[in-house]
Amino acid sequence: MQSEDTDEHCPEDLSADEPAPGEQPPEEPVLFYNETVIDHFTSPRNVGEIDNPDGFALVGDPACGDQMKLWIRVEGGYILDIKFKSFGCPGAIATSSMATMLAMGMHIDDARLLTDDDVVRALGGIPANKEHCSLMGVGALHAAIRDYEQRSSKKL
Ligand code: FES
Repeated sequence: MQSEDTDEHCPEDLSADEPAPGEQPPEEPVLFYNETVIDHFTSPRNVGEIDNPDGFALVGDPACGDQMKLWIRVEGGYILDIKFKSFGCPGAIATSSMATMLAMGMHIDDARLLTDDDVVRALGGIPANKEHCSLMGVGALHAAIRDYEQRSSKKL
């Protein structure tokens, strides 16, 4: 009896659940970052700041403490430049990078409609337990657009 308990916890027993050679692993749920997510985490696009921006936002996720800043330059209603800086996890950085890529060049009326699902889809998926991270980039984008609109209304 004692030797059976010991055998249950040996490394051989743990590897017994791995798919056999040629066997397909289960497709759902997504447990790991895919290559696109890793690429955007290791080489995030549109990182930096914009001097005298038309819109700015500082947002955070109170659950984990991650934060990000996002700046936009708007001309004729179109986002001509967008930059971000993030103090966040790999998921937050990758999804923020993709959010800025999707928003670049968009009319603010269209950018306002971007969702975290759009960002996750563009990345080819993200582990379910990291989906909340995709809210930060899109949330910052929407907040920066609101800031742009408030600044614009004060100029009228
Ligand atoms: S864990 Fe905080 S945004 Fe990902």
